[in-house]
Amino acid sequence: MDQMGSGTIAVIPSAREQSRNGDVSFPFRQDSDFQYLTGFPEPDSVAVLAPGRGDGEYILFCRPRDPLMETWNGRRAGLDGALDRYGADQAHSIEDIDRILPDLLQNRDRVYYAVGCNSAFDQRLMAWVNQVRGRARSGVTAPREFISLDHLLHEMRLVKRPAELEVMRRAGAISAEAHCRAMRSTRPGKREFQVESELQYVFGQYGCGTAYPSIVGGGANGCILHYTENDAELRDGDLLLIDAGAELEGYASDITRTFPVNGRFSGEQKALYEVVLAAQLACIDEVYPGNSWNAAHETSVRVLTHGLVDLGLIDGEVDALIEDGKYKPFYMHRAGHWLGMDVHDVGEYKVDGQWRRLGPGMVLTVEPGLYVSAGTEGVDPRWWNIGIRIEDDVVVSGDGHEILTAAVPKTVDGIETLMAQADG
Ligand code: GLY
Ligand code: MN
Ligand code: MN
Repeated sequence: MDQMGSGTIAVIPSAREQSRNGDVSFPFRQDSDFQYLTGFPEPDSVAVLAPGRGDGEYILFCRPRDPLMETWNGRRAGLDGALDRYGADQAHSIEDIDRILPDLLQNRDRVYYAVGCNSAFDQRLMAWVNQVRGRARSGVTAPREFISLDHLLHEMRLVKRPAELEVMRRAGAISAEAHCRAMRSTRPGKREFQVESELQYVFGQYGCGTAYPSIVGGGANGCILHYTENDAELRDGDLLLIDAGAELEGYASDITRTFPVNGRFSGEQKALYEVVLAAQLACIDEVYPGNSWNAAHETSVRVLTHGLVDLGLIDGEVDALIEDGKYKPFYMHRAGHWLGMDVHDVGEYKVDGQWRRLGPGMVLTVEPGLYVSAGTEGVDPRWWNIGIRIEDDVVVSGDGHEILTAAVPKTVDGIETLMAQADG
């Protein structure tokens, strides 16, 4: 509210329940902006911030208590809960919003609101504003400007406070434990979903869900970046790529590890793996305050291109190959993204047209990879169907970085040693 200034108001709707089929809804997941500001976990809610309002600056509209509805669908905080447990200055039933919100909009020049994200709510807000316009002759002024709240709010979300980092540390540790269990459980003949269930077991032990659909891809499936079928049989001699992370208290983690199904890397697998690992370690070294966001990506391109040349997968001079994008058939994504409440979190990557400088409290992933699809022209078939990505979650600290997901091995030795402890 300090940043919004006087004469403004912000209107932030919660997420809505989404029908899955019949009488079944998808598991409810609160909107990240709404969750960040309110901590209020229910659908059918609207938060209003009205700086300087005498009767209360933070107004929460929510579902009233209703014994019958709560018997069927679960407990509600109700208006008293909104005040007592969630710190609202004023709480109203969501059923009264059409009557109350126009009054709140009166004499406020600027409305902070994410236009275009929820078209049903856009229409309601315009109707409320029109009601206020209709009151002009009674000396009331209506809002003149709509501004996205993103700019202010997402810059806040980008820089994590200590309490947020503490949750992200725990999310990283839980996900690391899950990856270790999945690695130990892997063997030829199992199906990908059986390994996925080992991840889910650990997430579930901590009351977590997944931050995004887990990717568990053996062999050729490891070359499909967003593979989620997870139903193929794992074959002796193939690699398995797992990209999975827990969501804890609304915060994501995001880990990828790649390892041999039978517990031992082949010569080709090991050679490419060492290139990706070298790139990942070099990228992590680029994470420190003041460095450019893009430094890690540039480093990944350089190390990976070098490696591809050294191993004979591409020919030429490294600078020219980079210039011509010759690495792109093998490395088609970027080295990472912001991480927070959303797995691909909010926050600008460029400021005033320049790559942003990293600062303490920002959290990002570092995830270079190499993918050699079957049939890649000019590449010896012995390299085909090797897909490798190594991904960790990294916090920019005051003087360098902190890795949140270091507890899952990523060296060839570390992986082979852990897999030698395979259960059963
Ligand atoms: N799991 C999504 C990503 O790594 O970006
Ligand atoms: Mn990622
Ligand atoms: Mn990932």
